[in-house]
Amino acid sequence: MKYIVANWKMNLGVRESVALARGVLRYMRGKEDLPELILCPSLTALSEVYKATARSRSSLGAQTCGPEYRSGAHTGEVSPAQLEDVHAKYVLIGHSERRHAGEGPDQVRRKFAAANASRLTPILCVGESLDDKESGIALEVVREQIEQAMKHVDIPLKKQIFVAYEPVWAIGSGETPDPGYIIEMHTMIRDAVCEMTGRSLDSVYVLYGGSVNDENAYQLLRESQVDGVLVGGASLKLQSFTGIIDAAHEVIVAQK
Ligand code: PGA
Repeated sequence: MKYIVANWKMNLGVRESVALARGVLRYMRGKEDLPELILCPSLTALSEVYKATARSRSSLGAQTCGPEYRSGAHTGEVSPAQLEDVHAKYVLIGHSERRHAGEGPDQVRRKFAAANASRLTPILCVGESLDDKESGIALEVVREQIEQAMKHVDIPLKKQIFVAYEPVWAIGSGETPDPGYIIEMHTMIRDAVCEMTGRSLDSVYVLYGGSVNDENAYQLLRESQVDGVLVGGASLKLQSFTGIIDAAHEVIVAQK
């Protein structure tokens, strides 16, 4: 199975989000061998996008959550329980843009734990900076991010584990790593997660993110180590996004 996650970031109002979601679903209607689709609109649009996509083949995700599962005095935060309430199934945790804005490893771990305590499935985002890459420490940095987020966190056995590998230097830059680089990283991530959690290799899904578009999606998705893609910019336009869905469809058919 291949996953396509659309991260709309801080873009699109409610009406635009609903229109885009509807356009994507219309495009998928009647087709077979499609990827699993997860749409992550802004918090303000979750409810309406849910109404527009209920009973469809897509799921809803949030772009972050608060660090506490239960309700309480946390002004401005939205808890995993509140996200469940508006039918989100997934939540991105530790996206590099949030880490850049000050979300440290401890916050990431608390949010990952809070999401695991809920019915949401967290998608943990990790990735090295350009400096890390040029210093030759990318693998160590990413491994450390995984360890910091997952240490002492109880991940219910029935939950799949999702990690999105997103090199910071590839996000929004138009650059993507060579397939060999991605495969090496994804292999390490899968092994590290299995080692930490005792899970089997096939219960861990490793997605790639960073400048994915309709031209490079096929090449990325055809790799067996790439269980899916996390798409930012190219998920905001119907044409480029449906091009990525087509690429996944071609891969799924070819690998049947
Ligand atoms: P991009 O963003 O596809 O625009 O590079 C990906 C992401 O930040 O998740």
